[in-house]
Amino acid sequence: MKSELTTLKANTLQGIAEAKDDHTLKQIDINILGRKGQLTDILRKLKDLSPDEKKTVGKLANEVKTDIQIALENKQKQFANSELEKSLNEDWIDLTAPGKTTQTAGSIHPLSQLQKHVEEIFSEMGFSIMDGPEAESEYYNFEGLNIPKHHPARDMQDTFFLKEKHSTDGGRTVLRTHTSPVQVRTMEKYGAPLRVIVPGRVFRYEATDASHDSTFNQVEGLLVDKGISLAHLKGVLAQFLSRAFGQEVTVRFRPGYFPFVEPGLEVDFSCLICKQEGCRVCKKTGWVEFMGAGLVHPNVLKAGGIDSEVYQGWAFGFGLDRLLMMRHKIDDIRHIHGGDLRFVRQF
Ligand code: DAH
Repeated sequence: MKSELTTLKANTLQGIAEAKDDHTLKQIDINILGRKGQLTDILRKLKDLSPDEKKTVGKLANEVKTDIQIALENKQKQFANSELEKSLNEDWIDLTAPGKTTQTAGSIHPLSQLQKHVEEIFSEMGFSIMDGPEAESEYYNFEGLNIPKHHPARDMQDTFFLKEKHSTDGGRTVLRTHTSPVQVRTMEKYGAPLRVIVPGRVFRYEATDASHDSTFNQVEGLLVDKGISLAHLKGVLAQFLSRAFGQEVTVRFRPGYFPFVEPGLEVDFSCLICKQEGCRVCKKTGWVEFMGAGLVHPNVLKAGGIDSEVYQGWAFGFGLDRLLMMRHKIDDIRHIHGGDLRFVRQF
């Protein structure tokens, strides 16, 4: 029986040493130590031995059992370690690789970002931000701004008319062609002195091309106070543009015509692309056309209920889309409202 035990031990340990996988180990475990296993069989026969033999053979049998168990455990550990090693080698993670995006976060549209920036700059100069209706009465869009019926200035702006009469005065309703109507609305509501800007969407019945869209955005400015001159306007605009572009910008005034200002101006700023050397953007002049402006016409102050003998003011209006295009070198205005994510995700 003793030799049976030692042979079993030798064979089993050899089997364990040669095992190639976990499954083989399990099989050995069942065949040797299991309920019907070879060692269990031998142990069962112990009861037929004399007490002396029982003692020595029993001891040996227990040692064999423990040795086999230890060998099995060690081999199992060895397999587990090599599994781990294998997976560490195969499932290698590159910690320097950029992350995979499964969900993209939304972001603020570049036009809204710019509008917010413009509002911040003017707020710091003491201007309030005003709003006005996009579906505007014909009166505020034209008459209130000294553009009477049949005045040729109305031809400059091809207008969308709506069927409904306007709720404020029962007149015709237009999609506002500029943000200027909010000038009179603000003067009526708050009186003088005043300092406001009015960012907003405006509409014109126009064929679209790279620099024209039927919906675009303007920012109106209006300042009314005592002893106001164009010098104040120049200072405010130079300050605003320098802040908006993050570099020093100079401003030039040229005479221009708008019925709601007298004198009226065209405002240009120094070309930032060529530093006034002359390029395609400034058409080799060193100056970029930017906005209309002027001293508020007495008829407009009157429409707003302000005494033009006591108060003066200036106003301006510029295209926010154009400013955005210049800032980011965007070559087609239609991208701005096009809703193409490939465009907006760049900002
Ligand atoms: N409303 C004008 C336009 O849309 C722009 C403008 C010109 C606004 C002169 C003003 C101004 O306030 O004084 O073309």
